[in-house]
Amino acid sequence: MQQGKFITLEGIDGAGKSTHLIWLEDFLRRKRINNVMTREPGGTPLGEQLRTLLLDQRQIMHAETEALMMFAARREHLDKVILPSLTRGDWVISDRFADASFAYQGGGRGVSFDKLQILEQWVQGSFQPDLTLYFDVPIETARQRVQSVKTADRFEQEQDEFFRRVREAYLQRAQQFPERIRLIDASRPLQDVTSALEGIIQETLFN
Ligand code: TYD
Repeated sequence: MQQGKFITLEGIDGAGKSTHLIWLEDFLRRKRINNVMTREPGGTPLGEQLRTLLLDQRQIMHAETEALMMFAARREHLDKVILPSLTRGDWVISDRFADASFAYQGGGRGVSFDKLQILEQWVQGSFQPDLTLYFDVPIETARQRVQSVKTADRFEQEQDEFFRRVREAYLQRAQQFPERIRLIDASRPLQDVTSALEGIIQETLFN
């Protein structure tokens, strides 16, 4: 029986998720809510090893292999971290979840959405986040932010066209699941994004 809330953060690389995650953790601490911060791909010892392979620029793999590895890591993550934490009553905040597979492997790489849905059903059944915060930014803004931070991983090294498709797929999912996925315009000044975020969380999870 799930007692805690499951919140996921999504966006193209450079959308500013990391900054908002830090704010969110602090917000929950102030509310005295026990929370587990985690990420995908990753979140478990096996998942983190899969992450290393998935992000390694030297790895060449079929797009469906990539999708299968993302969902394999997710299966482990659900079993070892997400579901036990929620059952304990903790809130779980995940930096990315299944929407990223639909956006990156589906939109970006062109893996069939039907196949991804089969994997989603297999791994998650009907389980979905209580709230997904999708940080939307134009490709150009995201690109500038990523370049100034670190050397590019296997996804970050992709061309603008790839990220355009990823963003398009995220936007479509936000339209398809308006109850669960809340779109936040993250191209605005940080303070504005933070107050939008706070408003959404108060409204959806504390009312
Ligand atoms: P990211 O979350 O951006 O972490 P960091 O901020 O440390 O770079 O990195 C994870 C990458 O994995 C990101 O480029 C998106 C990609 N990804 C997928 O392609 N599919 C998925 O299902 C998930 C969870 C992530």
